[in-house]
Amino acid sequence: MTAILFVCLGNICRSPTAEAVFRKRALNADLDLRIESAGTGGWHRGDPPDPRARAAGEARGYSFTGQEARRVEHNDFSVFDLILAMDTRNLRDLRAACPPDSRDKIRLFLEYAPALSVSEVPDPYYGGEDGFDHVLDLVEAASDGLINQIKAQPSSG
Ligand code: 4NP
Repeated sequence: MTAILFVCLGNICRSPTAEAVFRKRALNADLDLRIESAGTGGWHRGDPPDPRARAAGEARGYSFTGQEARRVEHNDFSVFDLILAMDTRNLRDLRAACPPDSRDKIRLFLEYAPALSVSEVPDPYYGGEDGFDHVLDLVEAASDGLINQIKAQPSSG
C-alpha cells in the first residue's frame, strides 16, 4: 500500500479537491491507497472544505464527506510515501519543515501531468467561481498521471 498526502495552504480548497478526486479515481482503478490532505497553514483547522470547492467537485461526482482541515504535522513525513504540493510555495514550506531523509517524498502534484502548460495549481480562494473548475481540470489530469504511474509499478498488484 502507498500513502499519499495532498498539501496546499489552507486545506479547504485545492488539497481537499485533490483528495476527493484522487480517492474516486484510485477506487475506480482498484488501488488500495491511504489518501489524505493537509495545509501548511493552520487557520482553517477543523473546517469543512470551502463550499465553492465542494459545489464544483460535487457537480463532477466527487464526495467531500468527512473532510476536515488540518495542518501538516511532523509525523506526516514518516507516515506518507508521497507528499504532493499544489504550488511552489507549499513545496518550499514542506521542504523546509521535513527531515532531510524525507525530502524526496515531496513533489509538485502537476509533475504527474507533464502535458499541461502549468506546474502549479493556482489558489482559487480569492478568485471567482471558475477558479474552482480550473483546479478540478488540473487535479483530474495529475490524478490520472499518478494513477497510471502507480499501476505501472510491478508491486501495485
Ligand atoms: P487552499 O486555499 O490553500 O487551496 O485551501 C486557501 C484557503 C484559505 C486561505 C488561503 C488559501 N487563507 O488564507 O485563509
